[in-house]
Amino acid sequence: MDNETISICVMTAADTEAVAAMEESIFNEPWKLRDFEELLDKPDRGCIVAKAGNEIAGCVVFHNIAGDVDITNVQVKVEYRGRGIGKHLMTEAMEKARAAGGERFTLEVRESNLAAISLYESLGFAAEGKRKDFYRNPREDAIVMWKY
Ligand SMILES: CC(C)(COP(=O)(O)OP(=O)(O)OC[C@H]1O[C@@H](n2cnc3c(N)ncnc32)[C@H](O)[C@@H]1OP(=O)(O)O)[C@@H](O)C(=O)NCCC(=O)NCCS
Repeated sequence: MDNETISICVMTAADTEAVAAMEESIFNEPWKLRDFEELLDKPDRGCIVAKAGNEIAGCVVFHNIAGDVDITNVQVKVEYRGRGIGKHLMTEAMEKARAAGGERFTLEVRESNLAAISLYESLGFAAEGKRKDFYRNPREDAIVMWKY
């Protein structure tokens, strides 16, 4: 697996089922297939995927709201973590969002999710606030991060 080439590209209709299956295997309250299908061909939204051969290994979803880009979904399959794929996906998603008029980036993250917080900090995001009980299952506060 270590020598496998990872490609980073825009999600297409052919990818949505595999992306939704990955989502379901990682999150307790997953987005559904339809949520991913609705991202296709929307100028203000985007989903960047990582592929190992034909297999989906991760994705990042963004939504550009008048220049503020909300990163709504970040994930890498367990067996592909720790290889720089999350960082690569985030960088590519931010580049795409910038090209479409995005100026600032924001996201929420569980306060216990140190791997994700560390990833975001490595990209220049900083914690700017907290949303009390933002998450369920299990209930937890969200850290709100921004990168300008
Ligand atoms: C968070 C997640 C996307 C990181 O993906 P990844 O591909 O493993 O991350 P990368 O290999 O690109 O790591 C980039 C940086 O993130 C940080 N990082 C990643 N995993 C980490 C860990 N387990 N512990 C500490 N820091 C970590 C490090 O700063 C790392 O840089 P380094 O390798 O130079 O030290 C992945 O762990 C994941 O999918 N988690 C489950 C879903 C999730 O929590 N999503 C975020 C919701 S807000």
